[in-house]
Amino acid sequence: MDPSLRHTDEHKRETTADAGSCQICHVIAGVAVATAILLGGLLLSFVLFAGPEVDPESNASVKELMERLQQCQNERHDLNLMLHTVTQDSRCRLCPGGWLWWRDNCYFFSVGLQENRRWNESAEFCREHNSSLAVIKDSAEMEFIQAVMRKFPQFPFLWVGLTDSKQEGQWLWGDGTDIQHYMPVTVDWDADYRDCADLRGGGRLFAADCEAYGPWACKKES
Ligand SMILES: *[C@@H]1O[C@H](CO)[C@@H](O)[C@H](O)[C@H]1NC(C)=O
Ligand SMILES: *[C@@H]1O[C@H](CO)[C@@H](O)[C@H](O)[C@H]1NC(C)=O
Ligand SMILES: *[C@@H]1O[C@H](CO)[C@@H](O)[C@H](O)[C@H]1NC(C)=O
Repeated sequence: MDPSLRHTDEHKRETTADAGSCQICHVIAGVAVATAILLGGLLLSFVLFAGPEVDPESNASVKELMERLQQCQNERHDLNLMLHTVTQDSRCRLCPGGWLWWRDNCYFFSVGLQENRRWNESAEFCREHNSSLAVIKDSAEMEFIQAVMRKFPQFPFLWVGLTDSKQEGQWLWGDGTDIQHYMPVTVDWDADYRDCADLRGGGRLFAADCEAYGPWACKKES
């Protein structure tokens, strides 16, 4: 069996397992958060409302209050630990292993694969992983992607979901929108035989031969 296929299979299995058990994690995390909020409220009400009822001369009630406060703080500490454990659980990850989570989306950067692909093969990889070549929708997202690219200076460009292969000069994002739909960007170096866009440093986009091999970035909703 082709090792890359096997990898894909394992990946699919993992993703399916993730989807099944994640509900439970969300419920546990939800309960933990709710309890933490409740305890926080309790602490606050002690401070706000219990205060005036306490006789400042009575050391007993102050002591009792301090004990309860300590108890609440201990419980809060335990809940935080529990919440931490739950959210670190791989079944609760918002994105599959190897994907980065950013603002409700999961991103895959192929740089870790030590493999380059043509534009269409990159798009195929993303599709196989239930995603598509990255469509960049605002400057914050562009900055996020740029920050990742800066960590891998050996990969000066990335295939993204932008092409004018349907009609020369009419660049469209992978979701069918015009290149200027989300941001005022342009593609440099356009020519008949350069129909695929690669993203470089500084957020610049260049037209490239779709047959060229390079790294790529996939994106999907988390
Ligand atoms: C409260 O404690 C202080 C010292 O901790 C003591 O001086 C004081 O007498 C105590 N008051 C009462 C009412 O027990
Ligand atoms: C990508 O394009 C090449 C050449 O244009 C073609 O041979 C190959 O089958 C295509 N691959 C996919 C996955 O579409
Ligand atoms: C692919 O994505 C769709 C919509 O986002 C989702 O309904 C489906 O379950 C996903 N499939 C897999 C295998 O992750």
